[in-house]
Amino acid sequence: MDKVIIAENLSLSYKEFESIISKASFSIDAGSFVFITGASGSGKSTLLKSFYGAIEPRAGSLVVGGVKMNRISTSKLNYLRRHIGIVFQDYKLIKEWTIEKNVMLPLIISGYTKEVSGEQVDKLLSHVKLGHQAGKYPPELSGGEQQRVAMARALAHNPILILADEPTGNLDEYSSQVIWNLLEGANTQLKTTVVVVTHHIPEEMNVPFKHFHIELGTIHEIA
Ligand SMILES: Nc1ncnc2c1ncn2[C@@H]1O[C@H](COP(=O)(O)OP(=O)(O)OP(=O)(O)O)[C@@H](O)[C@H]1O
Ligand SMILES: [Mg+2]
Repeated sequence: MDKVIIAENLSLSYKEFESIISKASFSIDAGSFVFITGASGSGKSTLLKSFYGAIEPRAGSLVVGGVKMNRISTSKLNYLRRHIGIVFQDYKLIKEWTIEKNVMLPLIISGYTKEVSGEQVDKLLSHVKLGHQAGKYPPELSGGEQQRVAMARALAHNPILILADEPTGNLDEYSSQVIWNLLEGANTQLKTTVVVVTHHIPEEMNVPFKHFHIELGTIHEIA
């Protein structure tokens, strides 16, 4: 099976002689659904950052989507990021733009026509139950609604890989359910590889998944 992520003796840190993740070797299959757990400060966000090139390997090697992340060039990174969807806990929506335009952003970057982008955005906003809010601005939406917009944006350009950092961290039951359904749907219907950092793995998952747990800089796969 194809691997979307391959790490070999991967070490990550923000400073020299510091070690957040130490000599980790693991891989993530294309089309799989993966949860990453671990205590606060254990390195979950740091690991996820390495997958989209926001932090470079201190040592060892990391390959994402066939692209080597060690000393990656800006142009290669930009290319790779066009195939990745990212969701953070704090949404990172553009406040001055409407919901519609926020979701359209990755499509504009990927060079889709206005017509195709418009149809895709309508479809996604209705998936996240926000079709009626398309013309509003992010500050006019609740936290749960904003996170659903962020999820729609992350999926807009049909990425091969979705990276989500505590996407349901502060959300109510309803918004959390919409987010999990969307991630499961992308995984089963579009074969998108999904990697989610979370403190709580939902009890009722409808797709098979793998579970990596980070402890003391080491990544354990939990069977
Ligand atoms: N930008 C940064 N510069 C320096 N150190 C950092 C930076 N970001 C995180 N760290 C440190 O790296 C370690 C791991 O942080 P990380 O954010 O990966 O943890 P986490 O597992 O995501 O925790 P949480 O569950 O609280 O989000 C922590 O000790 C943190 O202080
Ligand atoms: Mg974190």
